[in-house]
Amino acid sequence: MTLAQLANSIIGRMSREVGSQIAQARAWLAAARRIAVLTGAGISAESGLPTFRGTNGLWRQYRPEDLATQQAFARNPKLIWEWYDWRRSVHAQCAPNDGHRALAALEARCEQFTLMTQNVDNLHESAGSKKMIHLHGSLWSVRCTRCGREQVNMQVPLEPLPPLCECGGLQRPGVVWFGEALPERELRAAVAAAREAEVFLVVGTSSLVYPAAALPRMALECGARVMEVNLDATELSAVAHMSLHGKAGEILPQIIC
Ligand code: OAD
Repeated sequence: MTLAQLANSIIGRMSREVGSQIAQARAWLAAARRIAVLTGAGISAESGLPTFRGTNGLWRQYRPEDLATQQAFARNPKLIWEWYDWRRSVHAQCAPNDGHRALAALEARCEQFTLMTQNVDNLHESAGSKKMIHLHGSLWSVRCTRCGREQVNMQVPLEPLPPLCECGGLQRPGVVWFGEALPERELRAAVAAAREAEVFLVVGTSSLVYPAAALPRMALECGARVMEVNLDATELSAVAHMSLHGKAGEILPQIIC
C-alpha cells in the first residue's frame, strides 16, 4: 500500500467513525424527554466573540484578578467599567450562529429542556432560546452596590462611566466575578436539571471552572448520557459517553434535526 492509499484509508475510517458518532448522538437526543445543555464561550466563538483560555482568549491577554474581582472594582471602578463597556460594544455587534439556533430548535421540540450557560452574552436569547439559566450573570445587566437593584441596561457605550443608580449608588456589572458565589436560584435550578436529565450536552467549555464544571459530572452520577461538543479534548472528555470534536456551529445542526 502506498503512503497516499494508507492516508486515504485512515481518513475514510475516521470519517465513518465521526458519521456513526453523529448518528448515535442524534438518536440519543431524539429519544430523550429530559435534556439539559451547558454552554461555554466556545459556542459564541463562531459569532466573533473571544473565548477565555484559547488563542487570543481574554485571560491570555488580561489578568482576571485585575479586571474581574470585587477588589479590582473597589480599587478602580472606572477602569473596570471601561473594560466591561468595551466588551459590551464588541458583543453588541455579534449575532447568533447555527449552534445557538440549533439549541433553540431543540428546546422547541423537547418535553423538558434546560439550557444553562456560563456566557454573559445574550446570543442564546437572540437565537430564540426561551428558558435560560445564566450561571455567570449577564453583560447587559447592572446592579447597584448600594441598594442592590438589578436592571437591564442595553446602552452602548454607557454614559456616564461608571454608571450610577437612581439612589445615587455606584452600579457594577451584573456578572459573577472571581471569588463570588453563583446566583443561588440559578445554581439550584441548574443542579435540579442536571440530576433529572436523560441526556446532558456540554458545548464549547473547557470544563475547568467550578461549580459549572460539576454539573455534567452530577448528571453522569445520576445516570444521564453525557455528550460533549468541543474543538478539543477537555477535562470532561475522559468521563463523557461521547466527545464530538469540531465547531459547535457545524456539529449541533447535524445532531439536532
Ligand atoms: P474557555 O475559554 O475556558 O473554553 C472555551 C472552550 O471552547 C475550549 O475548550 C475550546 O476548545 C472550545 N471552543 C472554541 N471554539 C469552539 C467552537 N467553535 N466550537 C466548539 N468549541 C469551541 O471558556 P469557558 O469554558 O466558557 O467565568 O470558561 C468558563 C468560565 O471561565 C467563563 O464563564 C468565565 C471564565 O473565567 C467568569 O467570568 C466567572
